[in-house]
Amino acid sequence: MKFFIDTANLDQIKEAQDLGVLDGVTTNPSLMAKEGITGAENILQHYRDICEAVEGDVSAEVIATDYEGMVKQGEELAALNPQIVVKLPMIAAGVKACKYFSDKGIKTNVTLVFSVGQALLAAKAGATYVSPFLGRLDDISTDGLNLIKEIRLVYDNYGFKTQILAASIRNTMHVINCAKIGSDVMTGPLSSITGLLKHPLTDSGLAQFLADYAKGN
Ligand code: E4P
Repeated sequence: MKFFIDTANLDQIKEAQDLGVLDGVTTNPSLMAKEGITGAENILQHYRDICEAVEGDVSAEVIATDYEGMVKQGEELAALNPQIVVKLPMIAAGVKACKYFSDKGIKTNVTLVFSVGQALLAAKAGATYVSPFLGRLDDISTDGLNLIKEIRLVYDNYGFKTQILAASIRNTMHVINCAKIGSDVMTGPLSSITGLLKHPLTDSGLAQFLADYAKGN
């Protein structure tokens, strides 16, 4: 299972990278705005900085909502660094642009996916990643995990190569449950990754080992 961090915060990206378990980064326009990164040039530079900080895939989202605009922006983003994955919204123009980029061998991430039908379309268009938004479904009392389960079933039925990128992850249990279902990737905040470290028996066990070692030294 790949671990992506879902942020545009460089410090958090570096912290996750330092832990040695990070496979990539996802961003979106809201995450960029949260870090105060605005204006096309600054945003492009921030993508370059993120690519420098990590080794894996970095999803960069287009803002255009028409096919020609998506192709233009996607090509500009892809030219920044081979790590860039062009992130496209799940609308008709996004599906068409996904097919365009996959035919050219450029990696894609189809985002804002909330149904199995949408995930099927993304796979048909050759998406590298499909991003079902688990947490946002849970927020409206719908079973987000079940969507991941159903997409897994459909993709396995036909051997689709598109990787399921469980997005909008909110906590460690989301990560663990996605792993049980067979999600290929998860993307979440730093806390959803570092939270996996925690267990009180690890802490008390380590304290005991160190105390016993100190007795003999
Ligand atoms: C996916 O790539 C999105 O950036 C993200 O996971 C959205 O999550 P949110 O619902 O926490 O905004």
